[in-house]
Amino acid sequence: MAADLTGKRALVTGGSSGLGEDITRELAASGAKVGFNYHSEKNKAESIAEDLKKNGADVITMQADVSDRTLAAEMVSDIIEKWGGIDILVNNAGIDGRYALSWEADLDEWERVIKINLFGQFYCAREALKYMIPKKSGVILNITSVHETIPWTGYSSYTVAKAGLSMLTKTIAQEAGPFGIRVLSLAPGAIKTPINKNVWGNPDTLKDLLEKIPFGRMGESSEVARTVAFLVSDAASYITGSTIFVDGAMVDYADFSHGG
Ligand code: BGC
Repeated sequence: MAADLTGKRALVTGGSSGLGEDITRELAASGAKVGFNYHSEKNKAESIAEDLKKNGADVITMQADVSDRTLAAEMVSDIIEKWGGIDILVNNAGIDGRYALSWEADLDEWERVIKINLFGQFYCAREALKYMIPKKSGVILNITSVHETIPWTGYSSYTVAKAGLSMLTKTIAQEAGPFGIRVLSLAPGAIKTPINKNVWGNPDTLKDLLEKIPFGRMGESSEVARTVAFLVSDAASYITGSTIFVDGAMVDYADFSHGG
């Protein structure tokens, strides 16, 4: 059953591809007005928006780099200006970064991953909260990863950003809880999107990946998007301050299925 988000005003960051695209589509299909930003894929973003508008949705697209604090704040204020407020922020924009062992990592690249995956989420959350706190209403959902808890060789910047984002969720949930604002994380596992095509596009690396998932298959982005729509809806009214894993039990130490 689809969640009911009728009349809610939402911002989805990084909404033009991968998980973000499906989240945008699902929120719109559930009745929300949806604004989403893209970084570089203007045509793709516009075609998603056209598609949704054809189905009667109220949608706006914005070009912005979430790691730029001014642009991130402007995105939130654009939504507030256009629709008179913001009810839902889905902090989804993120990149894996390039594989590099810590002692070989390029520092600019290392910092860039943290800036997009953690600073960007903070900038958007901060701006949304400035509106939500006095209204005593709103939901912020941060897309983390199973790597908020599972270390990942070659991706130290990514794991640090996601673990930090998880703690940001908990801390802001504590701060904003007395104002009735929910803040939570959704941690996807291996979801089949362009971000990890290098893994699922190759039979050997795919086999290795599937061995890490007790459920035996990768997830679909629609499975994440449906969960997001539920979590940001009033049906999830008492869920705040924690991470919901959508990962086929990937955090469940699959290696222990054969001894230990
Ligand atoms: C990453 C994917 C990866 C998955 C499982 C996600 O956070 O973005 O590239 O496949 O974690 O390792």
